Order: sequence, then C-alpha cells, then structure tokens
Amino acid sequence: MKKFVIEGGHRLEGEVKISGSKNACLPIMAATLLAPGKHLLHGVPKLGDVYTMIKILRVTGASVEFKDHTLIIDTGEINNPKVPYELVSKMRASFLITGALLGRLGEAYVARPGGCAIGPRPIDEHLHGFEMLGIEIKEEHGYINAQMGNRQLAQNNVEIHLNEQSVTATENILLASATAKGETHIINGAREPHIIELINFLNLAGAEIEIKDDIIVVHKTGDSLHPLEYEISADYIEVGTFMIGTTITSGDVSLIGAKWEDSRALITKLQEMGVEVEKTNNGIRVKTNGSYNSCSIKTAPYPGFPTDLQPQLTSLLALADGTSVVTETMFEQRFNHIPELIRMGAQVEVDGRSAVINGVQKLSGAQVMASDIRGGVALVLAGLVAKGRTEVSRIYHIDRGYEELEVKLETLGAEINRES
Ligand code: EPZ
Repeated sequence: MKKFVIEGGHRLEGEVKISGSKNACLPIMAATLLAPGKHLLHGVPKLGDVYTMIKILRVTGASVEFKDHTLIIDTGEINNPKVPYELVSKMRASFLITGALLGRLGEAYVARPGGCAIGPRPIDEHLHGFEMLGIEIKEEHGYINAQMGNRQLAQNNVEIHLNEQSVTATENILLASATAKGETHIINGAREPHIIELINFLNLAGAEIEIKDDIIVVHKTGDSLHPLEYEISADYIEVGTFMIGTTITSGDVSLIGAKWEDSRALITKLQEMGVEVEKTNNGIRVKTNGSYNSCSIKTAPYPGFPTDLQPQLTSLLALADGTSVVTETMFEQRFNHIPELIRMGAQVEVDGRSAVINGVQKLSGAQVMASDIRGGVALVLAGLVAKGRTEVSRIYHIDRGYEELEVKLETLGAEINRES
C-alpha cells in the first residue's frame, strides 16, 4: 500500500503547469464512440480514471493508444454494447459509456454503478432522461439493459426536465441525443466547465448544441459525427487545489493554464479571506502573507462553490482566523476528511450537512487515511503546513484524480515523498 510522507512547514513557490481536466476528459473519451474513425485527444492526464475509461473503450471495440498525454482512439469498429461490472464498479463515471453506446449502437448493457465513499450516487436522472428519448430500460442481475426500442420516438422533439442538476446525467443525455433524429431540450441541466467542454467537442464533431435561455438545446443532426483532434483544457479542480495549497503554506505560485472564469467561486472566497489572486498572461497567480480570515461556504452546482473543492477548503479554514461554516449540499457523506483533520489538531464540529470550524494556530503531523479523491488531497494540503511528519495512506484514491501530485508539490518546494 503506497502512502505520501510529508514534512510540513515549506512554502509553495514558483509555477506549476495544470494537467488536463479529468471530468472533461472522461465524457469526451466516451463521446468518441459517436464519431466513427480516428480521434486524437491531447492534454490527457495520466490518471487511474483515464486508464479505466481506456479499458472500457477497448471492451466496446475501440482501439486505444496512450502516448505522452495524447490518446489515439479509433472507433471505426464499435460492436459490443456490454460493459462489465468489474469496470463500472471501479469508477462511477464509467456509466457515461451508456449514452455513447445508445447514440452509436442504439443499445447498451452496462452494470449499474455502485455508491462510493461520498454517498449513494443514484442514477435515476440518467434513466429518466434515456426513457424520455424513447429508450426502453430493463434492470436485471445488477445490469441496466437499455434498448432504443422504436427509434422514431427519438425523432420527435423531446423535453427532459432534470430534478437534480446532475453532471453525468446531463452528459449521458447529451451523448444519447447528439445524433438523435429529433430535437432534445434539457431543462435544469448542469453547466460545469466540463459540460461546456463536452458540448464544444460534440459541436466540433458535427453536432448542433446550444444553450438558449438556460436550456441546453440539442438540434437534430440525424447522422453520425466525424472524428477530430482536440486539446483537453486545464482541470479547474486541480487549479483550486493548488490555490488552496499555496494559501495554506503562505506561498506564491503561478498556475499555468488556469482559466479565471472556471475558478471564480473559489477566487471570490479567497479574496474575501484576504488572499491575493491575480490574472496573469498564461494563468492565475496566488500569494499570501500567511494569515487569512475565516469564511463560510455552501456547495452548489456551477457557478456555485464546487463540492469538489469543499474538502480542500475545509483544511484551509482549519487554520483561518475565526469561525467558518461549511455546508455540503451535494453529497451525504463528503466530510470523511474531517475526523482525520481533527487527529491533526483541527477544531471542527459536524452537524448533519454542516461543519463548524474554529480556526487554530497550528496543526500537527499525524498518520491519516484518504477515503476519496478530494478528501485525500485535503489531508495532503493539511500535511504541507502541519508541524512535523504527516503520512497519508490509501493514496490510490488521490491518484485517480491528480497526475504526479507529489512531483508538482516538490517542484514548488514541498517536502513530500511517495513510499510503500
Ligand atoms: C460529477 O459526479 C463529478 N464526477 C464529481 O466529481 C462531482 O463531485 C459531481 O459531479 C458534482 O459536481 C465526474 O464528473 C466524473 P452529480 P456525478 O450527478 O455526476 C444527485 C471528483 O472528485 N443525483 O452531479 O455523479 C446526487 O446524489 C468527482 O472528481 C441524483 O439524485 O454527480 C448528488 O446529490 C467526485 N440522481 C447530486 O445529484 C441522479 O441520477 C449531484 O450529483 C444523479 C445524481
């Protein structure tokens, strides 16, 4: 079992190139099924989740090569609609292949994804959207059996109203409807930067998707899309993670590739806390003199404060001047990092969906355990500033979402090693 060993007390300084967005890359990899032929995806991060999606594409019949951040994906021969449990159970986002298989083959037989450490993670919004597109859904032996029964339903105009602004449900409906014969309206769809990026990719491949009066309109194209070459943009959750890492270590870091508009929710909060954040010609620069005020956040769908940055901010607020309140509205169990932070000396009271954090002067290094991607990286950030040595175990969670995290942090001055 690998772990990160961190000696706290080193400022982060310098510049770091942000990797491509995991949550944009995964749906775009699935979308290549809709456009038969050879795709080139650049700026692809070397992450556990990407390797899982590569396996899934190969199972459907695609050939995939991954060389130095470029994926060469040939989807000329897609012939298998079945995706096994052992792949879907490793990563919930695997379920995105369902919409792509429906769009390409008109059928899909995909294991129902399980929950994970941050909550049950239902898929009712996905299935409702598919049914509205005329797809017949059957469940058997833990598998979703989806058949585009009578295709003519997909030729009519369809209006799908999501109760939850679900990211992957919105993406799955986009994938299933991009080549449909009718026009599809998605009401209350999610609007995260990776949704916009998927829409850009599909439009470059020949789809006609626009956002009109807050409704995602998928115009009819009625035929398959064409393959293309595309560059994945910077991961705004990695950007936010490094912004918080810079702040917690009283550092001064430039984040190459970061886009201001994607990170506005966190930038506003950090500025409120007294942190200097400025736009540079190739990204964003963050610096602070060490002390920062408390603040309160409530996670929400984009453009609200992203739930994927809540654990990292909680670590920062553990050392803020004053009391902060963090409310997690998106997931039932996204405070797994808090008991570990308390072991490092944080003062936090969890009450249902809210955590009340009383800032302390210092944290002390300890042995802690990651239980999901973002909760795990929150413990690394705390370790960067804690007095003494911190060991973070179960870092396979972190490797799912961050490429060479310890290498990037070391380059910026942190003392961190990967040990078994
Ligand atoms: C995506 O997960 C991200 N994953 C998550 O990032 C992120 O935390 C989440 O969106 C919210 O931004 C990928 O993009 C691969 P949701 P997703 O469906 O789509 C409820 C990370 O660390 N819901 O937007 O699974 C659900 O319970 C990961 O990179 C339903 O009720 O999240 C939750 O309360 C963690 N029914 C809310 O919607 C459904 O059918 C938002 O979930 C689907 C979701």
